[in-house]
Amino acid sequence: MHWAFSTPFLVLLITGVALGLPQTEILLTHRDLIRAVHLAAAVGLVALPAAVWLAGNRRGLHRDAREIDRWDRLDWQWLRRSPWPFRRSALPPQGRFNAGQKLNSILVTAAAVGFLVTGVFMWKAEAFPVWLGDVSTQAHDLLTIAVVPLVLGHIIMAAVNPRTNQALGSVFHGYVDAGWARAHHSRWMP
Ligand code: HEM
Repeated sequence: MHWAFSTPFLVLLITGVALGLPQTEILLTHRDLIRAVHLAAAVGLVALPAAVWLAGNRRGLHRDAREIDRWDRLDWQWLRRSPWPFRRSALPPQGRFNAGQKLNSILVTAAAVGFLVTGVFMWKAEAFPVWLGDVSTQAHDLLTIAVVPLVLGHIIMAAVNPRTNQALGSVFHGYVDAGWARAHHSRWMP
């Protein structure tokens, strides 16, 4: 599900930023192609996760969704303490996802819904009032500005930061080191 969602999302982000940037020479020549890739990826953003949900481990996906949805005192504490780089106190124990991962999943999913709704109004603009197309384009642009730091932060934490990137392999092969799980997700792996 991670790759079924993130692959089209990243393609949309890259092509969307290219479409939104002031017209450069490459965009003047390839704008139609970039637009076609953007729209194909938009279809993928719905079709690929739907296919994984239909053909995959639905029970596991629902369990993950419930876990992401469930917030308690320790999650809020984790969120309050974690952003400080010189933090001294230990972070409260976390479940399968820490509060940062939960927040990221919720915000990115909400943004994807926003992109889909506004994107359809932009795509089929002739079927809707002009103001709706204008508002949608502005909201689409604002959402893009909002998700860039979110996605960059996620990639830095998952792939670059040596303190947090040690579980990166799990998103490719599905397994995580038991010691890592115990140290960072002790409510999941006591
Ligand atoms: C990660 C998700 C997405 C990002 C970051 C994104 C970003 C962008 C940006 C920045 C633009 C340029 C807007 C402008 O010219 O001011 C754009 C254009 C557009 N996007 Fe998206 N978008 C995303 C998802 C979608 C989805 C899901 C759809 C359709 C359902 C969609 C449909 C469109 C359309 C129709 C355009 C107009 C293309 C044109 O100017 O010809 N986008 N997108």
